[in-house]
Amino acid sequence: EQTAAPVNATAQPVLPDAQTVTAVTHWTDRLFSFRVTRPASLRFRSGEFVMIGLMGDVNPKTGKQKPLLRAYSIASPSWDEELEFYSIKVQDGPLTSKLQHIQPGDQIILRPKPVGTLVHDALLPGKRLWFFATGTGFAPFASLLRDPQTYEDYDQVIITHTCRDVAELEYGKQLIETIRTDEMMQELLGEDGLAKLVYYPTTTREESPKMGRITTLLQDGTVFKDLGIDGISAETDRAMVCGSMGLNTDIKEILEGFGLEEGANSEPKHYVVEKAFVG
Ligand code: A2P
Repeated sequence: EQTAAPVNATAQPVLPDAQTVTAVTHWTDRLFSFRVTRPASLRFRSGEFVMIGLMGDVNPKTGKQKPLLRAYSIASPSWDEELEFYSIKVQDGPLTSKLQHIQPGDQIILRPKPVGTLVHDALLPGKRLWFFATGTGFAPFASLLRDPQTYEDYDQVIITHTCRDVAELEYGKQLIETIRTDEMMQELLGEDGLAKLVYYPTTTREESPKMGRITTLLQDGTVFKDLGIDGISAETDRAMVCGSMGLNTDIKEILEGFGLEEGANSEPKHYVVEKAFVG
């Protein structure tokens, strides 16, 4: 005789679209990253984002809880078994004030509907690909930098990352180091592929080897001098931008000044922009 599976009366109520946290790393008092299980059916293109979050507080009037969700770029590559996210901690932020306390074994909500413009499909073929990031805007590039297509499609891949201080560069710095030294990455991306990768970190509020906003360093030609590049042109250069509103607006203007036009999934062109999650 068959018996029904025993019901665990003490089990936590399962969240809708629940995924389990597998790892959490705190980088600074403002930044952390975490990994969660990946829904078996979730397919995405490197650079896309999903909505993730937690259940909100119980509404005293209705006695109900509503999910509190925000857009988060997937920082892991599409071939990874888990999903990785890189987040700011805002002490009075509705979501991140809570999310920053997650521990391995906890559950988060993850709506498995990836979307976004920072994808290879939104760009026309080119020779050089720029990734311009500030702060947690590094996240979509953490995904794209681990995607073999990035190196197959271009002769050179330049990632710039501007943060306030040196500690805020650490997540990106370690990721670049892993990409360059990890055996599995070498095999996946190839020696020729990795030789195309250029990392250009800058800080604005603490002394470091390269100081200044990337916008300033582009406008005064420092970046080109440092990298031995003539400049940016619509013929050869493609760009993806992810940062604060200010960065996005300013870089757009600079890129348009070089003759580049903004693309989209439906109409690939020379550059694409997305706002980093900000709290
Ligand atoms: P700054 O220190 O001069 O404001 P945040 O942590 O506030 O998101 O900022 C991340 C980095 O982005 C900081 O180094 C900040 O420089 C820089 N930044 C902010 N606004 C712009 C902008 N409009 N153009 C370029 N960089 C910017």
